[in-house]
Amino acid sequence: MEKNAYKLAAKLIKGAKNIIVFTGAGISAESGIPTFRGKDGLWNKYNPQELATYEAFIKNPKLVWEWYDFRRQLIKKASPNKAHIILAKWEEFLPITIITQNVDELHQRAGSKNIIELHGNIWTLKCINENCGYKEKNYEAPLKELPPICPKCHDLLRPGVVWFGEPLPQEALSKAFSLAKKADLCIVIGTSGVVYPAAHIPFVVKENNGKVIEINLEPTPISQIADISFFEKASLALEKINEYI
Ligand code: OAD
Repeated sequence: MEKNAYKLAAKLIKGAKNIIVFTGAGISAESGIPTFRGKDGLWNKYNPQELATYEAFIKNPKLVWEWYDFRRQLIKKASPNKAHIILAKWEEFLPITIITQNVDELHQRAGSKNIIELHGNIWTLKCINENCGYKEKNYEAPLKELPPICPKCHDLLRPGVVWFGEPLPQEALSKAFSLAKKADLCIVIGTSGVVYPAAHIPFVVKENNGKVIEINLEPTPISQIADISFFEKASLALEKINEYI
């Protein structure tokens, strides 16, 4: 990538008044957490319909929990990488909000504060009985008991993530889209841009005359509207841009 592109990206970042950073599984790939799509993607090996739907959970809660427990163990052992860390550092002096599709909390662990989680959080456990409403943060990995049981009503606890066919958390969604409307810059990092409504966010920024910078190993549907694209690892691109910040 041309040196000038990093310089230009840094100039856009320093000049912006409202920046959103829209992240996906690719930003955590360098922390050793597998992405969903692509060559080594989880959805190449596993069927999402059997693991990431409410119906699958009701059919076989133990199997679904084993899969989430496995991912929780992997994430617990992982650490935020340079990409997460640079974003956290920028937030100290730049007007940044991170809108993430990731459920791993690596942005939080890197020190970012302004974070909107669109697809929930793998460390949240919640009761499937909506009348009960029990919810907890639980960082135990592996969990002692699979599937975990609600201490309040003894129904099943489920992971607090969004499954296929489920709506996104209303508050996070409306905050994300109202920020997208007023953002003058969107930095898109490590998402294939195919899961909606999340993938619509950069398009909303663009429609409202904001700029779009994309960082991904390869082109995505978002590349068509990107003002600058970096087709390389997130940590590498951010480190290079950071030299001019
Ligand atoms: P995907 O797995 O669909 O896409 C990951 C993207 O990251 C791909 O486009 C890769 O090219 C890119 N990538 C991989 N390594 C990278 C690196 N080191 N630096 C930069 N880019 C890299 O993940 P998401 O787009 O996040 O939904 O997937 C969206 C949603 O689909 C997820 O939130 C999840 C999944 O099903 C739910 O769980 C609801």
